[in-house]
Amino acid sequence: MTTKRKKSVGANKAVKVALLGFGTVGGSVARVLAASRFPDVQLTHIFNRNVDRKRSSEAAKAVSASVVWTDNIDVILRSDVDVVVELMGGLNPVEGWLRKALVAGKSVVTANKQLIAYRGTGLAKIAAQHNLHLLHGAAVAGGVPVIPGMLQGLCGDQVTRLSGIVNGTCNYILSRMEAGADYATVLEDAQQLGYAESDPSADVDGYDARAKLCILSRIAMHAELDPDAVAIQTISAIEAIDFSYAKELNCTIRQVSRAELDGKLMHARVAPMLVPLASPMAWSHGTQNMVVVSGRFGGDVVFSGHGAGGEPTAVAVVSDLLAVAQDCRTVQLPVRRREVTGDFLAPHYLRFVVDDKPGIVSAISGALSKVGANIDSLLQRRGYPKHRLPFVVTTEPCLSSTIERALASVARMDCMLEKPLCLQMLEVEDKAE
Ligand SMILES: NC(=O)c1ccc[n+]([C@@H]2O[C@H](COP(=O)([O-])OP(=O)(O)OC[C@H]3O[C@@H](n4cnc5c(N)ncnc54)[C@H](OP(=O)(O)O)[C@@H]3O)[C@@H](O)[C@H]2O)c1
Repeated sequence: MTTKRKKSVGANKAVKVALLGFGTVGGSVARVLAASRFPDVQLTHIFNRNVDRKRSSEAAKAVSASVVWTDNIDVILRSDVDVVVELMGGLNPVEGWLRKALVAGKSVVTANKQLIAYRGTGLAKIAAQHNLHLLHGAAVAGGVPVIPGMLQGLCGDQVTRLSGIVNGTCNYILSRMEAGADYATVLEDAQQLGYAESDPSADVDGYDARAKLCILSRIAMHAELDPDAVAIQTISAIEAIDFSYAKELNCTIRQVSRAELDGKLMHARVAPMLVPLASPMAWSHGTQNMVVVSGRFGGDVVFSGHGAGGEPTAVAVVSDLLAVAQDCRTVQLPVRRREVTGDFLAPHYLRFVVDDKPGIVSAISGALSKVGANIDSLLQRRGYPKHRLPFVVTTEPCLSSTIERALASVARMDCMLEKPLCLQMLEVEDKAE
């Protein structure tokens, strides 16, 4: 395949930019570009469906009169723009359009985590074949420069594990629940504030964070994961009582995305977990994001800040655009496909809701000991009716799959009123087996 020359500021000319998608982030990118007037970058085209609606929006006031607005993607693909900035989201039709843009000699900047998690490797190959850029610094943690930081600043280390809070919606919900609000109320507030979609599943069930975890694993540990193979667990089963018990254990609850390389195997999981109050992740509130990357030589590095929102995300997009305009190269190291397991060796928090009868605790203890898991503590708060009694058992470190085996039989007991809730408990030196 022919290698095309990249246009860069070296040619003393601003790169021409098309925005695909003029929503929250697209509008903010236009505003940031207008406010800063970077000489290397010139916005020339905006594409969106029903584009007249967008052209008359408030956000359009920041856009120069010379910009071409279109709802025909071919206008962009046939134009002389140098960089296509994709801010629409989703896999289709975006993937096909970006492939065509790369083949037409246009570099790509995107904030689309699903696209990069599922199709990033293929798109990167096309970009490399055409000597073009494919940058996606805004795809994880919005305005927090975790991707460029890892690409440039940590590639000299051997990163062995990472963990973090990469979904601002879940963090908003869980940190408000920690302060006493209930799940349904907070979810409604999050939807009204624009933090959560009307269908919140992508956030609360872990799909969004899983895509981000796969991207981070690829960059930090050069590991290609099948996103669908990464275990996810919803936060929607967490109740106020869990925060009370977590507090008794000197912990709180956060949606944690974690990955740990173990030879050829990757341990990876996205789930609500008990986080020690002393851990930086417990201090992350609201829509903040935080990623802790652990390297063999450099130890722990923490990235934190605003993980979402139009303007923080636009900063990441515009930073990528400037990198393309100045033809900045990122370090490329070989990436290997890794098998994934959701198993981690960790203490576990098990919450049961039962119609109280004699012998329940010994039955649970028997089921756990049958699989080789030991109980560490038993917590039972006063004030709950015996016919609907919530109590908690914590275990000594054991594999999640071991606990799940025991819980499968416990869940069948007549006295169990709900499916038992099982959460990993993070420790300071938590290791995958
Ligand atoms: N918002 C954030 O805080 C944030 C943070 C990090 C990354 N991101 C990522 O950034 C991207 C954009 O997010 P956003 O929040 O800006 O979304 P958004 O507000 O929904 O904007 C998306 C825009 O793209 C347009 N669009 C979608 N599909 C289209 C299609 N098939 N043809 C033409 N136009 C189409 C939409 O038009 P309509 O108005 O007609 O729907 C809308 O204007 C996503 O990949 C998202 O995951 C967002």
